[in-house]
Amino acid sequence: MREKIETLFTEIERLTANSLEEVEAIRIKYLSKKGIIATLMDEFRHVPADRKREVGMKMNALKQAATERLQQLKEQFAQNGTAQAGNDLSRTAYPVALGTRHPLSIVREEICDIFKRLGFTIAEGPEVEDDWHVFSSLNFADDHPARDMQDTFYLENGQLLKTHTSAAQNTIMRKYGPPKPGHALKALFPGRCFRNENIDASHENTFFQLEGMMIGENISISNLIYFMKVLLTEVFEREVKVRLRPGFFPFVEPGFELDINCVICGGEGCPTCKHSGWLELLPCGMIHPNVLSMGGIDPEKYTGFAFGLGLTRLAMMKYNIRDIRLFNSGNLKQLKQFTR
Ligand code: DAH
Repeated sequence: MREKIETLFTEIERLTANSLEEVEAIRIKYLSKKGIIATLMDEFRHVPADRKREVGMKMNALKQAATERLQQLKEQFAQNGTAQAGNDLSRTAYPVALGTRHPLSIVREEICDIFKRLGFTIAEGPEVEDDWHVFSSLNFADDHPARDMQDTFYLENGQLLKTHTSAAQNTIMRKYGPPKPGHALKALFPGRCFRNENIDASHENTFFQLEGMMIGENISISNLIYFMKVLLTEVFEREVKVRLRPGFFPFVEPGFELDINCVICGGEGCPTCKHSGWLELLPCGMIHPNVLSMGGIDPEKYTGFAFGLGLTRLAMMKYNIRDIRLFNSGNLKQLKQFTR
């Protein structure tokens, strides 16, 4: 019996494991109810009375050693991903816990992928802009209320934080110029926008939009509707119906609010769509001739459409997120649950 115990001591000291499952297997082998040590305890009955004390102490020590060794294996695991002591450079890489993507990044990448397949160029603009790009080049009148300090964050040097991704339209038109015959200028530009809002469950001062634009010789509202349907059908993974209502924005004429049939109830009417069967999703329209001219594109020859998708809002719809503050919260516990 004493020899058995000695052998077990050495055995336990040398135990290694390559995974937490192996640690568990070791626990079962040595320390479970029918494990080696429990069996040994049974044999303890046959130990002569005068040796019981000495053997009993050894057995307790053995049990203790096994428990401690197991704990060590577990802990080394949590730290290194392997129970091998030291730096074993030959061991295979153990999978490390990677971070997850932010729900806004997931939705942005998904939409960029869809538009890349449709031949759109992905562009990006700066977050600090000037009045020309954010307002004047988009046909905003000098006294338009959006220029007000109450809506827009102005910097001391007179620049401002962009309030919408439309701010990149002029830059893109100038960069690419009018399209060649038979071609169209197709661009998509996601970006972070800022507005001087009081924050609550549905308002943020920092949010994401995604602007799209297509300019060519015969671009019409049908093209706009087609691209919007493709986009929304892919994002919501089902056939969606869209409808256009008139909307006013200085940089489009005509301008629309595009609605989709409610993704929650399918159009039957529910609290999310306020029983109308429709959800307001994105504003869009045919680019105003003045905006084309200011971008160096002849409005007599070319037409185009533009749309401004609220990425943050779309992510809320897609994931049924009720509070917009989640996005900028850095609350990893909640943000980690979005994987696709
Ligand atoms: N820039 C507008 C906003 O943030 C949204 C918008 C409306 C963009 C109509 C467009 C458009 O491209 O055609 O409120």
